[in-house]
Amino acid sequence: MKQEQHNHQKRLVSVALKLAKPTAYFTLLLLTYTLGYLSSPSATSLPSTPTPTINELTNLPSQLDNFRVTSHCADPLPAELVRQTILHRVYNGTSPFEGFPPAHVSSLLRHQRIKGWGSTGAVFDHLIQKVKPRTIIEVGSFLGASAIHMAGLTRELGLDTQILCIDDFRGWPGFRDRFKDIQMINGEVLLMYQFMQNLVSKNASESVLPVPFSSASALGKLCEWGVYGDLIEVDAGHDFLSAWSDINRAYRVLRPGGVIFGHDYFTSADDRGVRRAVNLFARIHGLKIKLDGQHWVIDSTN
Ligand SMILES: C[S@@+](CC[C@H](N)C(=O)[O-])C[C@H]1O[C@@H](n2cnc3c(N)ncnc32)[C@H](O)[C@@H]1O
Repeated sequence: MKQEQHNHQKRLVSVALKLAKPTAYFTLLLLTYTLGYLSSPSATSLPSTPTPTINELTNLPSQLDNFRVTSHCADPLPAELVRQTILHRVYNGTSPFEGFPPAHVSSLLRHQRIKGWGSTGAVFDHLIQKVKPRTIIEVGSFLGASAIHMAGLTRELGLDTQILCIDDFRGWPGFRDRFKDIQMINGEVLLMYQFMQNLVSKNASESVLPVPFSSASALGKLCEWGVYGDLIEVDAGHDFLSAWSDINRAYRVLRPGGVIFGHDYFTSADDRGVRRAVNLFARIHGLKIKLDGQHWVIDSTN
């Protein structure tokens, strides 16, 4: 009899254990789910984390590192040495206009083929009158429309100005859909030759020099050589990353007190990133953006 009672108790305990296991699992699951839900960012009962301001972001050491440039640019060269320095560093001391155009391309060039965008806007006149630049750096020159316009303005004012035109002279993928008349030889588009021909046709080859490299590498070298601009125009790649990189690199070679400006703050290109890059740059450096037509202007003295 005692044995029977003992067996009965054992069965009860084993049934209870069998029932308790799933209940415990279920309770644990419920608890985990509830805690997870409550701690999730979408839980409405908890306040959402405020978006950090740009100042907070830039003041974080890890974020500051992203904007920090450790190398210093060389001391500024005197303006009268700028042309000679570029000729020496880029062209082995010989002007690219000497013997131009070479026989194998002369029949492929048009006497003048000048096309730009906002290239003769009032902003050029305003800034050249104001800054009276000895050195202008243009980032993005294409066929030279804006460079030729600036050369004319500086001449009218009797300034002795050199304009350095940084451009890889590749245009952009597909640009020949609109510029079929710019010839190609074995895949090499004749953009730089046509740019040079345009300068020659406007008698501007003494005051303008092409610097035919990517904007990043060319601006980096100007910094290393101590070539600074009193006036810098940024008008190359119009996506955010290109504009951001160009503005940051160009600002390093802006002579203290100089002015940096660029096109497409108010055109469809601002959607691609120009405007966002300019705004972010100005906020980080505490600079004011002024607007002049379709152009943005940052005066380093304000
Ligand atoms: C809008 S066009 C410049 C127009 C010129 N400022 C004018 O108003 O007559 C842009 C030029 O930037 C050049 N470009 C674009 N991205 C570049 C880069 N990363 N490096 C060098 N040149 C670049 C293209 O080859 C093109 O000629």
